[in-house]
Amino acid sequence: MTKLAILGGNKAVPEGLIKKWPPVDAEDEKLVLASLRSDNHAFGPNCEALVREFAEWNGNKYCLFTNSGTAALHMALAACGVGAGDHVLVTAYSWSASATCILHHNAIPVFVEIDWATMIMAPDKIEAAITPKTKAIVVVHLNGLMVNMEKVMAVAHKHNLKVVEDACQAHGARYAGRKAGTWGDAAAFSLNQNKMLCAGEGGFLVTDNEEIYKAAVQIWNFGENRTPAQSRDYHAYALGWMYRGNDLTAAFARAQLKRLNVHIDIARSNAQGLNRELAGLKGVVLPVEPPNHFHNWYNHTCRVDTQALGWTGNPSALRNAILDALRAEGVTAGVYQHWTLPAMTVFQAQNAYGGGCPWTCPLTNLNGVDYSPERFPITQRHVDTHFGIATQLRAPNGSEVVRAIAEAYQKVLANINNLEIKE
Ligand SMILES: Cc1ncc(COP(=O)(O)O)c(C=O)c1O
Repeated sequence: MTKLAILGGNKAVPEGLIKKWPPVDAEDEKLVLASLRSDNHAFGPNCEALVREFAEWNGNKYCLFTNSGTAALHMALAACGVGAGDHVLVTAYSWSASATCILHHNAIPVFVEIDWATMIMAPDKIEAAITPKTKAIVVVHLNGLMVNMEKVMAVAHKHNLKVVEDACQAHGARYAGRKAGTWGDAAAFSLNQNKMLCAGEGGFLVTDNEEIYKAAVQIWNFGENRTPAQSRDYHAYALGWMYRGNDLTAAFARAQLKRLNVHIDIARSNAQGLNRELAGLKGVVLPVEPPNHFHNWYNHTCRVDTQALGWTGNPSALRNAILDALRAEGVTAGVYQHWTLPAMTVFQAQNAYGGGCPWTCPLTNLNGVDYSPERFPITQRHVDTHFGIATQLRAPNGSEVVRAIAEAYQKVLANINNLEIKE
């Protein structure tokens, strides 16, 4: 048996084999350099072109280019009419911003347990979490796998709730043939470094609803009614922020957008290839692409099957030992979140703005709001056992990298008894 790299053996993934993300070519250089040489580095021509191009690519009527996905999420909720004291349902497992964006508009997150197989919000558990104060649902298409939107929209229509899609990881993902960002009232995408469409930082708000778009413009641009491309009156008609993206970032994003379909195809092919190589590997639960779903494979996330490995100790101790060994083999696998969202301090302390706000808001009540971590056992199990890889399975990497990564997983799992497990 080959000696583990963590114990001094050779790496399964040799140094230099994995190429960095995103691939940058002459098109990126041309557009970014042209932007640099232009005279409008704020909301310049690339910003205007980018929103047209992304709206067309995704199939939305309206699009705003933001300086982050988080900004777009906040804008989406506020533009959907979520306000002080409202309750908003959100998955118990995601990036913190999926839930803190609710606090940004003085509303109260109410968490919903995840589904073990798909790792995303369990659509069948949404209805039971609805309270009389519930105004909206934030659905997160985590890892690039969409939530079953037919079920989400049915519950939303029945209870008259708005739906915001957190599609920050889900560019090009589809459910029942329809893309992320085309199901809910509004959606947010991220252009952050690791995202499927990378521009360093940035984001989009998309919607097909003119009223939502107009409200979002105010939040995006100092409370004004017009975009910087129109003749502005510099009047704050509402409470606004400064959430606009800039021209250099837009130029980079436009160049990357031209290759987004190719990048998604490569990520899919690599992730599916890795699943084939690892099929049947004892001790690992592989990620799935259920029927009717088109996964963009933003993140290939596995779970350690403690039972299959006969491990009765702390699950995260075994997972961490496997993770350390994988990293030593040259796979920069990571743990996406070490906490369930409700267990995070901001929610446990319930004191976002001081004075207990927004939980102490006189416009709300906390009936149905319970952040006890033990209410989310599946989410906790996921947190304790998962590890994943993202950009390594993207372009320009291909089958050679997939095989090397698979070899690292196989080697580590075959040597599980040689790992030092720190309880
Ligand atoms: C699921 C999810 N939601 C929201 C965000 C926030 O996006 P950004 O970092 O662009 O603000 C991210 C990424 O960081 C994310 O992965």
